[in-house]
Amino acid sequence: MSGAAAGHVLAVDQGTTSTRAVVVDHGGRIVSVGQKEHRQILPRAGWVEHDPVEIWSSTREVIGLALGRANLTGKDLAAIGITNQRETTVVWDRHTGEPVHPAIVWQDTRTAGLVAELAGSDEPGAADRFKEICGLPLATYFAGPKVAWILRHVPGARERAEAGDLLFGTMDSWLVWNLTGGPDGGVHVTDVTNASRTMLMDLRTLTWSEEVADAMRVPLPMLPQIRTSSEVYGTSDKLGVPIAGLLGDQHAAMVGQACFEPGMSKNTYGTGNFLLVNTGPQIVPSEHGLLSTVCYQFEGQDPVYALEGSIAVTGSLVQWLRDNVGLIAESAQIEELAAEVEDNGGCYVVPAFSGLFAPYWRDDARGAIVGLTRYVTRHHLARAALEATAYQTREVVEAMDADAATPVTELRVDGGMVGNELLMQFQADILGLDVVRPAVTETTALGAAYAAGIAVGFWEGTQDVASRWREDHRWSPQMPAEHRERLFRTWKKAVTRTFDWVD
Ligand code: G3P
Repeated sequence: MSGAAAGHVLAVDQGTTSTRAVVVDHGGRIVSVGQKEHRQILPRAGWVEHDPVEIWSSTREVIGLALGRANLTGKDLAAIGITNQRETTVVWDRHTGEPVHPAIVWQDTRTAGLVAELAGSDEPGAADRFKEICGLPLATYFAGPKVAWILRHVPGARERAEAGDLLFGTMDSWLVWNLTGGPDGGVHVTDVTNASRTMLMDLRTLTWSEEVADAMRVPLPMLPQIRTSSEVYGTSDKLGVPIAGLLGDQHAAMVGQACFEPGMSKNTYGTGNFLLVNTGPQIVPSEHGLLSTVCYQFEGQDPVYALEGSIAVTGSLVQWLRDNVGLIAESAQIEELAAEVEDNGGCYVVPAFSGLFAPYWRDDARGAIVGLTRYVTRHHLARAALEATAYQTREVVEAMDADAATPVTELRVDGGMVGNELLMQFQADILGLDVVRPAVTETTALGAAYAAGIAVGFWEGTQDVASRWREDHRWSPQMPAEHRERLFRTWKKAVTRTFDWVD
């Protein structure tokens, strides 16, 4: 059993492309990491699936790897925290633990028809039918319509769900249920941040909304119990360690970046980009295409809310150029390729692979490469792909400034792409703001570890976390304002070329 002498916390970061287990010591230092990629199943255009059983098995494997590399066992762990790709939906049988369908991933657009049905019309505002309750527009991104799709399309699923035999969960719920015994007493829970991405939770009461669940025909008994982001939910049956932190990955990054004060924001550069700003105890409704969401909630405390700008495709555009197009062999080569040219040569890549998320929310958009001439080379294409991340971020920052009480004054960044100097400088240039990278960029895992550690008294609280945050690098804008605005205007024109592609 974990004891008072346990000197570490383990975080599991179940992401879109891989699962990582990270051992963190009391100083907030990363001691060891285990990582495994899982398959991206793409059965049709617009569909993206994961195998939940494969993810559960890689989770066990990476936990073993991380502990083995640090020469530790369960006795050395004070707690386990879990953070995860959000919205990705699993429905499984509570008696056997078998999923009834592959997990439907957040990027998947198969629910477009269902979402349109729920909106009821094309009239402006129809997609906001549940926004006052859940803070979100109707969109294929969220978990509720994905559960509804499974119940409608998997033979027998509705009857089994109504009989109480099926459970729904996002990846946090799926992993906790399995880690705590699965069919033999597994705990069926989620936290407020993950629940806030389903459309099924009332953001004001932090309870499931009967109104939305009824409209989507999702039986309430299949939904997990909603808990805070930092408390003991159960004990891992194999390691004997309390599971004490649950946070959607972007919310975990807010904790890892110590964004505890209203107005503080971070931008994570992962498969997609997710920019969140802490709005404190206030639910700020967005008029500019952002999402109102729970930032985090510590046990015994009021929830803290956030506004979020979600961008579906940023890092995954680089993966696409690597895996589908063969432009590069390794993701890191994109920077070398792009650095050989001064600019994009007039070429813009708008990666609307899953439609467009913030601030547009257009299911009908599809990706486009525009501005092509014979002058454009693969170097320009590489550069345009990197620039797409920076332009999309600027669109979200502009929406934030329009919605939130305090404008974004500098951007804390983290995630896989923040080692890319060219992108970070261009980001500062195109925003006209400083971009700041912390010493530890593994903020997602760190945030989950902190949430779990705080729950069991391993760390004292958010002050303890904030005191460990250190700046590592700062990029300041160098581009003349007039040039920046000209580039951004052309980007916005390029975006309009992706609209109305899917009927
Ligand atoms: O909302 C989706 C997001 O949580 C996925 O994050 O880092 O796995 O791409 P990531």
